[in-house]
Amino acid sequence: CSRTQGELHYPFSALRILDTRLLPGRRAPADLFPPGWRSYTSPEGLRYYVNSSSKETTWRRPSSSAEAPQSPLARHNPSPYGKTDEFGHCYRSYLSFFSFLLQINCVTFPLPGEGPEQQLLKPNEWSYCDYFWTDKKDPQGTTSVAGFEVLLQKQLKGKQMQKEMAEFIHERIKIEEEYAKNLSKLSLSPLAVQEEGTLGEAWTQLKKSLHDEAEVHLKFSNKLHSEVEKPLLTFRGDNFKKDLKKYDHHIADLRKQLASRYAGVEKARKALADRQKDLEVKTQQLEIKLSNKTEEDIKKARRKSTQAGDDLMRCVDLYNQTQSKWFEEMVTTSMELEKLEVERIEWIQQHLRQYTTLRHETDMFNQSMVEPVDQLLQNVDPAKDRELWVKENNTGEVRPVDMDI
Ligand SMILES: *[C@@H]1O[C@H](CO)[C@@H](O)[C@H](O)[C@H]1NC(C)=O
Ligand SMILES: *[C@@H]1O[C@H](CO)[C@@H](O)[C@H](O)[C@H]1NC(C)=O
Ligand SMILES: *[C@@H]1O[C@H](CO)[C@@H](O)[C@H](O)[C@H]1NC(C)=O
Ligand SMILES: *[C@@H]1O[C@H](CO)[C@@H](O)[C@H](O)[C@H]1NC(C)=O
Ligand SMILES: *[C@@H]1O[C@H](CO)[C@@H](O)[C@H](O)[C@H]1NC(C)=O
Repeated sequence: CSRTQGELHYPFSALRILDTRLLPGRRAPADLFPPGWRSYTSPEGLRYYVNSSSKETTWRRPSSSAEAPQSPLARHNPSPYGKTDEFGHCYRSYLSFFSFLLQINCVTFPLPGEGPEQQLLKPNEWSYCDYFWTDKKDPQGTTSVAGFEVLLQKQLKGKQMQKEMAEFIHERIKIEEEYAKNLSKLSLSPLAVQEEGTLGEAWTQLKKSLHDEAEVHLKFSNKLHSEVEKPLLTFRGDNFKKDLKKYDHHIADLRKQLASRYAGVEKARKALADRQKDLEVKTQQLEIKLSNKTEEDIKKARRKSTQAGDDLMRCVDLYNQTQSKWFEEMVTTSMELEKLEVERIEWIQQHLRQYTTLRHETDMFNQSMVEPVDQLLQNVDPAKDRELWVKENNTGEVRPVDMDI
């Protein structure tokens, strides 16, 4: 996880955006420091030093002698810094690091416009892994949905759509079957069975074509079933939803861990603030001689403060580790979901194409079915029919003659 990289970014200061540079504290007499240096006190009561011309910051009281190198305040690695106290003792201190972070549901993000520019993991691809990092508020604004949940919902919807398409094709098949049944039933109808001649032949062919057409539609419906409906229905069985649940639980678990790590950081930070306040009060009391606190007391308070700081560091480290694990899993899993969606769309596309192919075939078949009917209709010849009919049914061609007396 490189999202919180940048030297001034420390998750535990999230939401409590502190820039101690904006809060100048009590100033020590300027003549104690080399030119340009000033001393400030952080809200936690720790003193640090800023060089206004070089913009250098340091924990260590700057001295004119060049032999003591300055320890920079903000560094990439926030390991405990050595600091020398008023008594010349070296101790470690954890100032609240300058922080430019935003915390949303226990995930830390850079503040808009702050920190190094983030590059997309997969530029120009609109990849799932780049666009679902924040939780989404539902329309009522009451609960929020994790970005990953949005991706899972898309998968579930896709599965539902696939199922509904199979259902639709099933209805289409039923129409086709019923149509075929009606056609073949009608082709057996005795209506006009006694038509004769060339017209009778054409009529018989027409009735027969209905039967053949019925066959074609039946074949179409069978193919629709085996080559479209069934694949749509069986694509990704029950295991699919189980797999999604597994992903869901996995990512949700990591988010839960992250939340508890975050709570740990908050607690440790509060403890540190308390310790530092305590230290400050004691130091002040010593300075204005309000009490007879000894050097020992202050050293003790300082040790406790350092310990609290160590605790905080450990908690931040654990938080960082969990967030980084979550980040990695989010990337891998969302890319897996992306792959699944591409497969789903291509699978459906392929089978809808099969539908149109079969449908064209049906048209071509029933074309060939009507062709003989057309042929015979062209041959219909009223004169020929009359000839035939007359030949069979004539009642005698000898005409009557006039009476002859
Ligand atoms: C089949 O015939 C029945 C009546 O016999 C009719 O109600 C139904 O709509 C017909 N179906 C098709 C697909 O032509
Ligand atoms: C420290 O001050 C308290 C009162 O503020 C006093 O009772 C105590 O004796 C003092 N201790 C020493 C070592 O001076
Ligand atoms: C937390 O993570 C940031 C960013 O990866 C890193 O720079 C920092 O050192 C980490 N802090 C701790 C205490 O592990
Ligand atoms: C051919 O089949 C289609 C549907 O499959 C149908 O609408 C049409 O009436 C059939 N007959 C002809 C002559 O195209
Ligand atoms: C015409 O002749 C055919 C063949 O002999 C016969 O089947 C049919 O019944 C006859 N039609 C009539 C109206 O008598």
